[in-house]
Amino acid sequence: MVAADDRDTRADVPEVEVSEAQIAVHWREEPYYYPSAKFIAQANAGDPAILERFSEQNFPECFRVYADLLSWDAYWHTTLDTSNPPFWKWFVGGRLNACYNCVDRHLAASANKAAFIWVPEPENEPTLALTYQELYRRVNEFAALLRDFAGVKTGDRVTLHLPMVPELPIAMLACARLGAIHSQVFAGFSGAACGDRIADAESKVLITMDGYYRAGDLLDHKVKADEAVARAAQQGCTVEKVLVFRRHAGQYASKSPMVDGRDFFVDDILPQFRNKLVAPVSMPAESTLFLMYTSGTTGRPKGCQHSTGGYLSYVAGTSKYYLDIHPEDTYWCFADIGWITGHSYIVYGPLALGTTSVMYEGTPTYPDAGRPWRIAERLGVNIFHTSPTTIRMLRKVGPDEPAKYNYHFKLMTTVGEPIEPDVWRWYYDVIGKGEAVITDTWWQTETGGFLGCQLPALAPMKPGSCGPGVLGVFPVIYDENGEVVPPGSGRAGNMCIRNPWPGVFQGIWKQPERFVQTYYAKYCRNPESKDWRDWPYFSGDGAVQAADGYFRILGRVDDVINVAGHRLGTKELESATLTVPEIAEAAAVPVMDELRGRAVEMYVTLKPGVAASTEITEKVTKAIETEIGKIARPKSIWIVSDLPKTRSAKIMRRILAGISNFTDVGDTTTLANPEVVEEIRRAVQKAK
Ligand code: PRX
Repeated sequence: MVAADDRDTRADVPEVEVSEAQIAVHWREEPYYYPSAKFIAQANAGDPAILERFSEQNFPECFRVYADLLSWDAYWHTTLDTSNPPFWKWFVGGRLNACYNCVDRHLAASANKAAFIWVPEPENEPTLALTYQELYRRVNEFAALLRDFAGVKTGDRVTLHLPMVPELPIAMLACARLGAIHSQVFAGFSGAACGDRIADAESKVLITMDGYYRAGDLLDHKVKADEAVARAAQQGCTVEKVLVFRRHAGQYASKSPMVDGRDFFVDDILPQFRNKLVAPVSMPAESTLFLMYTSGTTGRPKGCQHSTGGYLSYVAGTSKYYLDIHPEDTYWCFADIGWITGHSYIVYGPLALGTTSVMYEGTPTYPDAGRPWRIAERLGVNIFHTSPTTIRMLRKVGPDEPAKYNYHFKLMTTVGEPIEPDVWRWYYDVIGKGEAVITDTWWQTETGGFLGCQLPALAPMKPGSCGPGVLGVFPVIYDENGEVVPPGSGRAGNMCIRNPWPGVFQGIWKQPERFVQTYYAKYCRNPESKDWRDWPYFSGDGAVQAADGYFRILGRVDDVINVAGHRLGTKELESATLTVPEIAEAAAVPVMDELRGRAVEMYVTLKPGVAASTEITEKVTKAIETEIGKIARPKSIWIVSDLPKTRSAKIMRRILAGISNFTDVGDTTTLANPEVVEEIRRAVQKAK
């Protein structure tokens, strides 16, 4: 939900009273762990000469190494164009097609190799090995359907609201083949959230599915499409066609009626396009490949635009050197393709390298906590990629499960949130069996690919630290005044990047001002300058840097809360809460959470004459689920008599977070209503 007054291009300039980084626990320095000789001997980046090739003196030409992993229709004449800062352009003059690079060019050598292996949730359904040849056929047929039946043209935006089924990467690649811009919305997001994103992107076509399996249930997903289309219509955007895949061919798993002339079953139409081939459209390197919406400080989500040439080069290069993917590996990233991790490191990076990428439907712990390890054993997975929340969850429900299965990982990745050293060690010892190297990869939706990580064969691991900047990326920590916080000082500051890199997003869809303000204005030295050195990128994360150069990420310093690796804007949560008619005011704060890293607690006040009841808290939960999705459900909702406010009536979330986290609430003397602090503290802390 976006309140009317949020639909402007207000900048996300952080003006925060509380942030995740402030409630972070500072861990002590941990000892190093070293990669095995066996790993080093086979690593893609085993020769330290690579560090020299990517040194600052060789920037930006060093990124040729990544671009040369791709097949170009035409080479670029300018590696990095800085003429319109901070709208950087990479590989200008170059042309390529992302789908061709991920599919067609592998046919000569690997037609019969699996591109994807898909594991459905029901254990009686067969696992699908989709070969590069079969992927080629299906992508071509669907691209033909998109073009000739749905009228999709180069440059159009197409919204996808698909779960973890092979149809999702097929639809993405089909769009890419046509040069259309895909915008996949995480399937767990509500119809309303999907509708807002459709309207922002002005998509005329929505691709969805009737249902999918999750923890034993076949969920009705098509109902969300109806809500999404209605929501988009309220914002003046008409969805002309809804293309509905069926989870089981010929059977319809949804109660939502098909709307005549608007909704079409893909499996009814696809036979018309049997064996149709669509020539991949040769796209300029800087054309937009996809949009990925993420949360910021205002209620309006940001459509991060990723480029074709720069992005694809970057995810191919980082997959090669940091995930150590070789074509013969079987690689399994546990993320959902609906997030940037899935785009970059399930689909585009691994496929650009011609490897086998595993994807699965359902959850890691259903029907039991042995599921991931059974799958890893059966499929011979040797590279494993997941998040701290999943690791914590697997540790809790099945601490000894991995030992029961015979699989061997050479490398494992953690991504999305800070990992506690204890959790890291369990990951290393129990899941990795002491054999696997761990890369802790720090990055963001905006950054396209990894920014902070150690090269797995060339530098040691340190639990809880993501390592130094990746090849060709030079991070720095600035304080609020723009002074460098030196390594080893023990002081925290704002994590920034001194230089552009090919994976960096091109902008926020239709909000160029917000893009400049949010990411570059804070530390820009000279707005007139065309020199990238004057335009450091501000990540929105707090961090500390040890004397060895390794970074430890503390969490967000803005109004974003990262729950289980999913970004939620406090403003989005508050706007959703305020749709409940009984609620007068709302404040969202982050709290430490044993399983999910952080969780959300809502503080609300009621309108005059309304009595507190569990019915109201249920309504708040429901409103958040409707407006955003179940992932945003708050851990607690506290109904209080008043919220602490400044004399200018600004809600002081910092104080509420102090109460929720049992930490210092700080100075309360300047409040207009200091007496409520004690009252809230007593009520909340007693109830916890
Ligand atoms: O706070 C950082 C955290 O996740 C945020 C980015 O979230 P999102 O855009 O959803 O992308 C997630 C996948 C990259 C960051 O601002 N984050 C991401 N990776 C790490 C991390 N925090 C600590 N360690 C990481 N490895």
